Amino acid sequence: MTFWAVFLCTLAVSLLGGLYVLGAFRRRRPNEPPLDKGIIPWLGYALDFRQDSSGFLSKMQRKHGDIFTVLIGGYYFTFVMDPFCFGAIVKESRSKLDFLTFAAKLVLRVFGYKSNKDNNSALHSFNTKHLMGEGLSLLTQSTMDNFQKLMLFKLSSGEEKQPWQEAGLFHYCYNIVFRAGYLALYGTESYQGTGNKKKAHEQDLIHSNQLFTEFRKYDRLFPRLAYAMLPPRDKVEAERLKRFFWDALSVSKDSQKENVSRWISEQDQYLAENGVPDYMRDRFKFMMLWASQGNTGPTAFWLLLYLMKDPEAMKAVKGEVEKVLREYGQEVKPGSPPVNITRDMLDQTPFLDSAVEETLRLVAAPILIRAVLQDVNLKMSSGREYTLRKGDRVALFPHLSVQMNPEIHPEPHKFKYDRFVNPDGTKKDFYKNGKRLKYFNMPWGAGVSTCPGRFFATAEIKLFVSLMLTHYDLELVNDKEEIPAIDSSRWGFGTMQPVRDVRFRYRPRV
Ligand code: HEM
Repeated sequence: MTFWAVFLCTLAVSLLGGLYVLGAFRRRRPNEPPLDKGIIPWLGYALDFRQDSSGFLSKMQRKHGDIFTVLIGGYYFTFVMDPFCFGAIVKESRSKLDFLTFAAKLVLRVFGYKSNKDNNSALHSFNTKHLMGEGLSLLTQSTMDNFQKLMLFKLSSGEEKQPWQEAGLFHYCYNIVFRAGYLALYGTESYQGTGNKKKAHEQDLIHSNQLFTEFRKYDRLFPRLAYAMLPPRDKVEAERLKRFFWDALSVSKDSQKENVSRWISEQDQYLAENGVPDYMRDRFKFMMLWASQGNTGPTAFWLLLYLMKDPEAMKAVKGEVEKVLREYGQEVKPGSPPVNITRDMLDQTPFLDSAVEETLRLVAAPILIRAVLQDVNLKMSSGREYTLRKGDRVALFPHLSVQMNPEIHPEPHKFKYDRFVNPDGTKKDFYKNGKRLKYFNMPWGAGVSTCPGRFFATAEIKLFVSLMLTHYDLELVNDKEEIPAIDSSRWGFGTMQPVRDVRFRYRPRV
């Protein structure tokens, strides 16, 4: 009798525990947002979300309005679509809404890096020191040198036109921008190691190209790796690629490099001095490679493609770049050295700035996530207050709620190169319901996790596009080419990628 009583009690407790984990008892409390658990226990809407996050969230917004809680893979996410309360979320104290808890789990899974909260504020200080201000001028110059090395070494003497070369525009842009950024941040081959300067340069070209090839393999697996949804064979490949990058960027190879950026070297030195073992420092460097190179090349691709599809925009941006070059006494002409674009020059291109921002509006789509550590009250612009429940996650998807919102950006699907600039060169303001908005474009995230590389990324994209427009004749192989659709499996991870590449031709202008 006693045995059966114990058995039945254990069974009942396990059953109730199981149902609890599956979310069966979760009910919407007063003042909480609408709750939608879907029909599959525990998984909830994981599959719909994974397949096309933007399509799914758009459907939920139509069903529930500007705030709703959905079950996704065992977690309750409250999505807030009202841009007037973004400030309250991204500025809330870390003791209530925390970025690090979620990020730490993700970086352990995707890069093998175990973060330590104690190191965070020191590491952030290196971002401010080296990715902004004076540090940014040094990095911009070094990136410019590497672009010249990668793009302009085969320029003709101007005697005769060189033949057209054909390539995939996405591959070309991603490849060149990745390699220039990588060499600027992680350093170049040491002359001493190779014997002479020419050999060291050749080595840089070969090595950076190999690294890009492997990076793209990892890049393709990345979304499914982040969602822990890789099939076994791809899992093995992802592990191989991680080991490849840990080794390629290993601190044991530091002596073979020179011109390593201070952003990388000082962060690494700090970790070493604070007892982080070598193997974990290698993983940190891999994480920084992903953060710094995964979005910039794809953004450069979209910008160049939008310009090539829009003659008026192309004329305005190209004219602006050529004007700045002339003002600094430079011109692309036969026999002259490649142009050298400095940070000062990049500060004088309002149309190009607006075109970069417009490109990011269309294709940058991060999902910003915070863990709710205590119950938090949130007031919507309608005046209604909601409670975010402790233990849940709160998320923003500005691409849908702001960047593609026709109330804020009329004709949101159209590339308008001058959308962000007034005719006098000043920046435009944006409004919703007649009220001025602070958050009208959020490609870089916001608050504690705002991208620290945003100024450097913008400089890289502007350098690359300026060099392409001034040094090369460019044309699409098919002049009727449509802009390819966005690959909807990548929502949430930064700049989106196209479902297919676009063929183009290029040749040096002189
Ligand atoms: C177009 C290019 C880029 C885009 C669209 C972009 C976007 C973003 C976004 C949205 C975040 C925040 C993620 C979150 O809140 O969860 C982020 C974080 C970050 N980005 Fe970027 N990024 C770009 C380029 C760069 C570059 C060039 C660097 C470095 C040189 C960089 C370094 C970082 C780092 C270190 C973080 C993590 C910040 C933290 O954890 O506090 N990014 N980026």
